[in-house]
Amino acid sequence: MAVATSRFTVDVAVVANPSVAEKRSVMNSQTSPSPFSPITIGPLTLKNRFIKAATNEGMSAQGVPSKQLVKFHSALASGGIALTTVAYCAVSSDGRTLPNQLTLLPASLPHFKALTDGVHQAGGLASAQITHGGCFTFLRERSPPHPLSSSGGFNKIGMLSGMFRKQAMTETDMQKVVEDFAQGARLARQAGFDAVEIHMGHGYLLSQFISPLYNKRRDQYGGSLENRLRFPRRVLRAVLDAVGRDLAVICKYSITEGVRAGNSAEDGAKIARLLEQEGAHLLVLSAGMNAESITTMFGSSFPKENRVQQKNPVIALAMSIQRLMDPKVEFRELYLLEHARKVRAAVKMPLAYLGGAKSLASIEQIMAEGFDLVAMGRVLIAEQDYVNKLASGVSTNSICTACNRCVAMMYTPGGTSCVLGKPGDPELNRQPAADR
Ligand SMILES: Cc1cc2nc3c(=O)[nH]c(=O)nc-3n(C[C@H](O)[C@H](O)[C@H](O)COP(=O)(O)O)c2cc1C
Repeated sequence: MAVATSRFTVDVAVVANPSVAEKRSVMNSQTSPSPFSPITIGPLTLKNRFIKAATNEGMSAQGVPSKQLVKFHSALASGGIALTTVAYCAVSSDGRTLPNQLTLLPASLPHFKALTDGVHQAGGLASAQITHGGCFTFLRERSPPHPLSSSGGFNKIGMLSGMFRKQAMTETDMQKVVEDFAQGARLARQAGFDAVEIHMGHGYLLSQFISPLYNKRRDQYGGSLENRLRFPRRVLRAVLDAVGRDLAVICKYSITEGVRAGNSAEDGAKIARLLEQEGAHLLVLSAGMNAESITTMFGSSFPKENRVQQKNPVIALAMSIQRLMDPKVEFRELYLLEHARKVRAAVKMPLAYLGGAKSLASIEQIMAEGFDLVAMGRVLIAEQDYVNKLASGVSTNSICTACNRCVAMMYTPGGTSCVLGKPGDPELNRQPAADR
């Protein structure tokens, strides 16, 4: 594979007049590729190795991309990112977690198309993160009335949503969800996306199958790790069959769940092998679970300011509970590296490191450790042009302090923003992307 063989070769595919940062990376590329060099994943070639990680922007007031969301992702593309991930696109109305979540429906396509056009015109590529919430949902109007999950019984997420029971999926439910994912991927292709990222992490439906915290099934979909991966692999296979020749098919999952009874990084390495066998083009290595271990995902605690900013009482309560339950965690760069290394050692396929990459030195370390790409979330909320700043040598360290206030900002009228920068425009955020 081009990726695997190029890892240890001298890589000089940088611009004609390399900047300070690029020169440094070329020097490092004696043993590892430059982060500014191109890479091919599945059918897609990226101009460099930087991915904007999915961060629900809260810019979809009517369930479709807003003009503010187009502006945000276009700024990322003109700011140097090769591939920007549009977070949290539900594959069906019943698969939503939040009522105003982006949803891939035929009627929404003009708005998604306006977004991908904006990104392409700005010189980037766009990936749609496709997801189903399972029992991690606040949507009370649904059919069936109880949210679906790998297993039935008490729904702990229902403490917040009021839906105290969840329903174990039958074969018919599973087939429907497999088709929803395949259809979501086809719609993403029609809307002009270049890649789809299947969300298999953080406690949503596919993660509810992978995780022993949720999956208590006794059939071929429960028990061993292989069995727990069976349904997510079915989804992956269906998405690959539907669009894998045209789009890169990426899987994002939690390499460790960060709690004792959950999957460990050793499990995370085995999961990677199973997804590699199934033919995924790239894995994005996240960690943690929304309800059980949010600080594992973010590598830092949530500030009390997040709670007072909340107008939505359910979200305010959720954040308060989270603050009480989660340990105090001091941020450190590359906080998931020791776990991610186990995955790197287990597979040959392309991997994107995610978690606390916020300086050129960190990014170079990731490349030197054999990861193929770097995905970044908060850094790019703070500075959409961070990649250009690195490439030109204007900056080496991001201004992001990993304070996590951008997480609460996604529930404000202007959508996500960094407290160190300008807030989003509520007016622009009310307007669907394709409206005149
Ligand atoms: C505001 C915000 C919203 C997020 N929403 C999502 C999401 O919708 N889907 C997802 O997979 N991850 C989501 N994440 C997690 C990020 O993708 C990423 O795992 C996390 O920010 C750690 O990476 P970083 O250190 O580069 O920020 C979100 C993160 C932030 C800050």
